[in-house]
Amino acid sequence: MLSLLDIAATAATVIVLAFIFDSWRRKASHLPPGPPGLPILGNLLQIPTTMQYIAFQDLGNIYGDITTLRVPGMTFMILNSRKAIFDLFDSRSSIYSDRPHLVMGTELIGWEGAIVLSNNTPRFRNCRKLLRKGLGPSAVQSFVPFLNRQCASYLRDLLERPYDFTDIFRRNAAAISMKIAYGYDGITEDEEVHDLALRGNLYFIETTVIGVWLVDMLPILRYVPQWFPLAYFQRYAARARPFIRKCVNKPFEETKRHMEAGTAGASFTSMLLQHAQGDPEVEDCIKYSAIGILLGQIDTTIATLSWFFMAMALYPEVQAKAQAEIDKVVGNERLPKIEDKDSLPYVFAVMKEVFRWQPPVKLVPHAVSKDDDYRGYFIPAKTTLIANVWAITHDENVYHDADKFIPERFSEEGAPDCLDDAFGYGRRGCPGILIAQANVFVSMATTLATFDITKARDSRGNVIGPKVEDTPGAINGPLPFKVSVQPRSETAVDLIKRSVEQSKTMSERLEVFSLDE
Ligand code: HEM
Repeated sequence: MLSLLDIAATAATVIVLAFIFDSWRRKASHLPPGPPGLPILGNLLQIPTTMQYIAFQDLGNIYGDITTLRVPGMTFMILNSRKAIFDLFDSRSSIYSDRPHLVMGTELIGWEGAIVLSNNTPRFRNCRKLLRKGLGPSAVQSFVPFLNRQCASYLRDLLERPYDFTDIFRRNAAAISMKIAYGYDGITEDEEVHDLALRGNLYFIETTVIGVWLVDMLPILRYVPQWFPLAYFQRYAARARPFIRKCVNKPFEETKRHMEAGTAGASFTSMLLQHAQGDPEVEDCIKYSAIGILLGQIDTTIATLSWFFMAMALYPEVQAKAQAEIDKVVGNERLPKIEDKDSLPYVFAVMKEVFRWQPPVKLVPHAVSKDDDYRGYFIPAKTTLIANVWAITHDENVYHDADKFIPERFSEEGAPDCLDDAFGYGRRGCPGILIAQANVFVSMATTLATFDITKARDSRGNVIGPKVEDTPGAINGPLPFKVSVQPRSETAVDLIKRSVEQSKTMSERLEVFSLDE
């Protein structure tokens, strides 16, 4: 028989649950607006698998600059204005700096230590401190001679196999990131390490796209065994896991061995390990920050330079103007250097326009760690908010003819700078921004100095493309395309050959790697 106490306890529980349900319902009804969805599936079928940023921009035009979408297991909010992004990701960055939890990209595949996927935990903050130290202005100064030197081999490769420019970007980006992260010499010749860097990166890119892996939407599926017919994600993860372990550990352990033997060059890892005093937590942070350099750099740089090549083929008048600036300022006796940036304002505007026209990361996801209110809307803890960088850089009210490539908007018309939008926001903003911009600028300037990029032709002389279409995924480069890459003149060929010879006299090893405080 129920006692009076039982009845009172039951009544109290019912009242509390009713209160919780009611407050949840009221809060849910105060979410920012969004398109109505289907039962269970929510808006899943309304989200395309490619060019999501355009669909999201269109939603913004209907529902306003903060739009709610639901898919099974997740609520998203799309931010389509710089004001909303700034108000949340920058001004309230203490709570808007988590990441959406991706079961596939972390637990299943083994990238759970990756900085880019971590929440804003004390470990994450320690790792970001290391990245600030090791990729800050002083560190970048230390890489500049190496980046300038590396350009000679990049141009030599372009001269030898101009049709293979994407592979050249890939090898070059891998070589630079392995040098900075671990001090690795000659990665382009070391196929095993090269393969390790690129495959680890590929697994990362493939598994961190939001809304693609079923297990991210239904996390309970993480317990499904590999043999289960629909468990393709388990089989994929089982293949990738050992490889990712090797990718994280091998170059790090080798750097340690070189340090013990006294043969290590200066690098992010070797410099920071000197201060770690054997502390395993600090070493873990260094290890994952170092691999973060590879994950952060390779595909973003390939995408940026690929879009640059396409833009030059599509807009020959821009290319000619940039080349004329280089000829006038630098001449043809030497290659442009990073240090020439301030004297080459039009080339710098070309770089800005590439990042505006085709930002390589068009959608930047953060998650909020606590319930919040914004403009009277309720934003529940753990919501994923996606900054639509594309919508910002293609806002016709700010950038006229936004689909066209017009560097003059920056060099002559005073359009607001949007370079930083391409590198993310608040506490999660890209820690490699300085090195990325230095590398991209010098790659563009040296290419313009020595090559002409034009539309390719087929065997009958008909012009082929290229079409402005991008790859699906977290990082958007163009779909494979052809352009013709020809040296500008015999003088340009001589300059490349001379620069290659000169670079051989310079140490490939980084002698100095200064940390910032
Ligand atoms: C064209 C080149 C690059 C672009 C466009 C780019 C862009 C970005 C963006 C948009 C983010 C996310 C920011 C956010 O969540 O708000 C990011 C994160 C990151 N980037 Fe870059 N990046 C580039 C190159 C680099 C380079 C060269 C490095 C290292 C040397 C690097 C390291 C990282 C790391 C470690 C993160 C994760 C930061 C975190 O989650 O807190 N990136 N990058």
